[in-house]
Amino acid sequence: GPIMRVLGIETSCDETGVAVYDTDKGLLGHRLHSQIDLHAAYGGVVPELASRDHVRRLPLLLRETLALTGLSMRDVDAIAYTAGPGLAGALLVGSSVAEALGVALGIPTLPVHHLEGHLLSPLLSADPPAFPFVALLVSGGHTQLMRVSGVGDYALLGETVDDAAGEAFDKTAKLIGLPYPGGPVLAKLALEGTPGRFKLPRPMLHSKDFDFSFSGLKTAVLTTATAPGFAPEDRADLAAEFQAAAVEVLVAKAMAALRHCGLRQLVVAGGVGANLALRAALDAAAAKRKARVFYPELELCTDNGAMIAFAGAMRLMAGEQVEASDGRFAVRPR
Ligand code: KG4
Ligand code: ZN
Repeated sequence: GPIMRVLGIETSCDETGVAVYDTDKGLLGHRLHSQIDLHAAYGGVVPELASRDHVRRLPLLLRETLALTGLSMRDVDAIAYTAGPGLAGALLVGSSVAEALGVALGIPTLPVHHLEGHLLSPLLSADPPAFPFVALLVSGGHTQLMRVSGVGDYALLGETVDDAAGEAFDKTAKLIGLPYPGGPVLAKLALEGTPGRFKLPRPMLHSKDFDFSFSGLKTAVLTTATAPGFAPEDRADLAAEFQAAAVEVLVAKAMAALRHCGLRQLVVAGGVGANLALRAALDAAAAKRKARVFYPELELCTDNGAMIAFAGAMRLMAGEQVEASDGRFAVRPR
């Protein structure tokens, strides 16, 4: 097909991301702004502040991305944006900017499902997997195992019945008094601790399906951390045990999914995919069954515009028929 350049815009939560993907040359460049400092004082993402900051940052990031790639808006052939899931107000910023640009330039716009962006992000790496593969999607909002047969061809194998993996990391971090964003902070503390000193459950480890549950784990952490005699210096050991429990279940279910599908390629996507303990355990388990694990580049693990531009480009390359934007848009927070 013709060479196309797709601008990607991500504003679903607390990062503003912009990127340009070229169907011939690959990712031309991307820019990211994290709102971590903005929300830190509140211990979590404040939706209203997130929306306002996207409004403030997006024009600047657009300009920076164009400068970085040596392009002007006229060189862009289509605009992909995150339509959901995410925070409604935050999603509206990216979608309204994308559709307004689409109308002004007379080019098509592509609403992208945020999880599809994560799911396809490992294909952006230098040594990408080929379809079909099993995907383990572990973000702040979702925990899913999927069989991915091609672009747009996804079969859900199982998912969390309560908290998402990232949510469990974040809530557990908060319970033991760690600052936002909890997941990476807890992971860092876990490095200093020893798992096994405190005993936490491995929820649904033997459930014989591909579903997960993390809320009981969080409750068990609370029980341990509030027991008499639990001291602040015990937190590293508890964090290590929590991480070991979460990782053990994720690895076991991912391997069971590979076996079930008869596949040897596992793709890991979403913010928790940045967790080094998870990566080490997945690599070790996969090596035993002569399987391979593919990760997105570390900087593309969490939310970013590159995965959205790429997902849009993949859909265009797969032959999806698109028309110039009519300016209408709908976000899907859920
Ligand atoms: O994919 P993502 O950026 O946003 C969502 O779509 O949710 O994922 C964010 C989640 C947060 O819950 C964050 O705490 C978690 O990923 N996370 C981590 C690590 N880095 C990010 N969890 C565990 N270990 C990490 N190193
Ligand atoms: Zn995400």
